[in-house]
Amino acid sequence: MIEVINPFTKDKIKALALHTDEEVEQKIINAQKVQKELKDFTPFERSQALHFIAQEIERRKGEFTDLIIQEAAKPRIYAAGEVDRAIQTFTIAAEEALRPPHELMELGRSLKTAQKIGEIRYFSAGIVFGISPFNFPLNLAVHKVAPAIATGSPILLKPSSKTPLTAELLLEVIQASKLPKHSVQLVHCSREKGNELVADERIAVLSFTGSPAVGWKMKQNAGKKKVVLELGGNAAAIVCKDADIEDAVNKLMVGAWAYAGQVCIHTQRIYVAEEIYDQFLEMFKIATLNLVHGNPDEDTTNFSCMIDDANTQRVLSWIEEAENQGAQLEFGGKVENNILSPTLLSATTKGMKVRDEEVFGPVVCIAPFENLKQAIEEVNDTKWGLQASIFTDSISNLNLAFNELEVGGVIHNEATTFRVDNMPYGGIKDSGFGREGVRYAMHDYLEAKILVKNK
Ligand code: SIN
Repeated sequence: MIEVINPFTKDKIKALALHTDEEVEQKIINAQKVQKELKDFTPFERSQALHFIAQEIERRKGEFTDLIIQEAAKPRIYAAGEVDRAIQTFTIAAEEALRPPHELMELGRSLKTAQKIGEIRYFSAGIVFGISPFNFPLNLAVHKVAPAIATGSPILLKPSSKTPLTAELLLEVIQASKLPKHSVQLVHCSREKGNELVADERIAVLSFTGSPAVGWKMKQNAGKKKVVLELGGNAAAIVCKDADIEDAVNKLMVGAWAYAGQVCIHTQRIYVAEEIYDQFLEMFKIATLNLVHGNPDEDTTNFSCMIDDANTQRVLSWIEEAENQGAQLEFGGKVENNILSPTLLSATTKGMKVRDEEVFGPVVCIAPFENLKQAIEEVNDTKWGLQASIFTDSISNLNLAFNELEVGGVIHNEATTFRVDNMPYGGIKDSGFGREGVRYAMHDYLEAKILVKNK
């Protein structure tokens, strides 16, 4: 059984039965069967189904929001934002379903082939196995499901066992559409069974969002599958001396503290030009004090608890370890009413987990810098490379950052958490492999096929 617990109240919300081995096997057989049906389900029909699902989520927005609050303890303001984004992701997929990639290629590269032309179309690679995390129980599942529908690929989705109920509601909505039955199926299974599916040769694509340790291991075991990995990060923001400080502080309130830092692009490190460091620090402290801690269900709450006690204790121990290694606690580091308070550390150095690893919690490291090149080197000096942001008014600073930062995305005058759902999203180095963002994910779910013909 999976026991779904409300992380804030600790109440049991529901128990779900894990699927048996036989049930999982049946789901794979169902997916193989529906693959054939999906071939005849036209791009127009896929697009209509995706629009329908977007509209249904809009109509049932309150239910989705409440479920995300209950099972993930995401404050209402952010839970509602996630639902809006899921509607947008399905809408983007509805549009992309109508413009599948399609190319013509001149093949007359010698007299012998002068009359030849190639037509390249893309066909579903086959069954997708998606594994989605707890932190965006709706939208990160949608980032796997919507591209699958748009490309006519059956998908088996394994949602996080901490937040499976939002995925169940999503499935209900999808099943009300005109998509062939079993186009989208949920798998609730143990990690061991999940690993078997990762290695199963009947599955063509693995799309995983989660921890790097698990993700890179899966890639090793995935055989001939196409693999997309969205892993972690320890994103940094650079605040230059010409930045609008108030604007940077306001935006970094979200980057640093939204959903208690449990976001892969959470702003975990802030590098501030030394000329404005004291002023920035003071404003950042005051703004953080104004956060409203409490029950995620309340309209006014914008800061709440982490997903479970084990993670709260892990993050606390990392903070203590950093202090013992010489970091200075600017504020935070306490647990009150089950909530680990926003924690700011200065004087952090390489070798401390809070600076080098992904905290996935409400901890930020802050440091001054002398010049932008030095700040960029510091940002790059980790094994991660997902997103980074720079606050500056200078085009040359922006260009330098764009050229030099080793990340999948550089964000200007916004926090590192900025994301629109059609952006290519993904990392380099340990942060991932491949990109999501509907059109980019669709590419990974497709195989090119060329028809060579006479002109
Ligand atoms: C993530 O945590 O990787 C997702 C961030 C987002 O979609 O905003």
